[in-house]
Amino acid sequence: MQFTTLAVHGDGKTREHTGDVVSAVHLATAYRQPKLGEFQEHVYTRGTNPTRLALEKRLALLEDARYAFAFSSGMAATDTAFHLFKRGGRILLNDNVYGGTFRYASKVFGSMGLFYDLVADFNTLDFDELPGDVSGIFLESPSNPLLRVTDIGRLAEKAHAAGITLIVDNTFMSAYLQKPLSLGADMVVYSATKYYAGHSDILAGALVLNDEEKAGKVKLLQNTLGNPLSPADAYQLERSIKTLALRMDRQCANAAAVVDLLKTHPKVRQVFYPSIGGENRRIQEAQSRGFGAVLSFVLSDGCDPARFIHGLSLFDFAVSLGSVESLVCHPASQTHESFTPELRKKAGIEDGLLRLSIGIEDTEDLLLDVERTLEMA
Ligand SMILES: Cc1ncc(COP(=O)(O)O)c(C=O)c1O
Repeated sequence: MQFTTLAVHGDGKTREHTGDVVSAVHLATAYRQPKLGEFQEHVYTRGTNPTRLALEKRLALLEDARYAFAFSSGMAATDTAFHLFKRGGRILLNDNVYGGTFRYASKVFGSMGLFYDLVADFNTLDFDELPGDVSGIFLESPSNPLLRVTDIGRLAEKAHAAGITLIVDNTFMSAYLQKPLSLGADMVVYSATKYYAGHSDILAGALVLNDEEKAGKVKLLQNTLGNPLSPADAYQLERSIKTLALRMDRQCANAAAVVDLLKTHPKVRQVFYPSIGGENRRIQEAQSRGFGAVLSFVLSDGCDPARFIHGLSLFDFAVSLGSVESLVCHPASQTHESFTPELRKKAGIEDGLLRLSIGIEDTEDLLLDVERTLEMA
């Protein structure tokens, strides 16, 4: 079955015995035990919950994966993934990684006995030069906010040869556009708050993987750290996923139209999008179904980013992405504020950089809004 059909129907089994056409919301936190020493499938909601389980099965199905776990946020999923590493290990992150993930590495790794390094380009990383303590790579492709693309399959091969675990944060793509596990990654994390939820009203995360032993550890951590998604949010997320493919097709088409406008506009100095740049585009086309709906750009010298941000009428100025409504964000002061100014400069995140997350609005309306606002900037 194709993605769109699976997104709507899941495996159909979770509701077999009742005939409900949607999953039920099980709000109970505790489940009666039949007898002393005897347990049923569900005992306590932090461990398992039928509504969350239905969502997790669907997430795994959509990713062609064996296991999926739903968390209370994307950062909870990332936190759980980092807990799988042993003390003394070093994790490589792309230098365009989400600011919250960088904050985790720079502020929390120390107390976990972990180290990190930032890598500018994983496509050219020389594995022979790596320190011996590297145990993990945590990567976003396309990256955030400069939309740089990494060849995931090639990196996975090299990482595995060196005994390094590869985790991909696939938030910008979703399993509809890109499946890192089938490209060779070991684990995939999501801020499901973004495209999976799609309506700016659910905070959620997911971790998807195939390895049985690691999945056992993730299950233990989810129960022990106490960070799973609530049943009500799990229901809402499953509902949102049914329209994921439709939303993303529309968002990608709208984004491509906005990119075309920006690329030739005299008030725009540079545009960043996975279809731009020969190598970027070639890799993206080979490993994914589309270019996504997030783009960044820098205005020409003399233009005022604040005038652009506040001049837009269809784009809310807000620090997120992936929803049906279009958003504009200023990475230097929002998503990447946890980077020092020097690090931002090194990573190419200029103060004048603006990021757009394109929604499902009418294409012409979006183009008119962007064009009219550029004239004023
Ligand atoms: C790429 C990426 N990964 C992870 C996260 C963290 O997700 P959450 O906000 O759901 O905790 C975000 C949030 O913006 C993100 O953009």
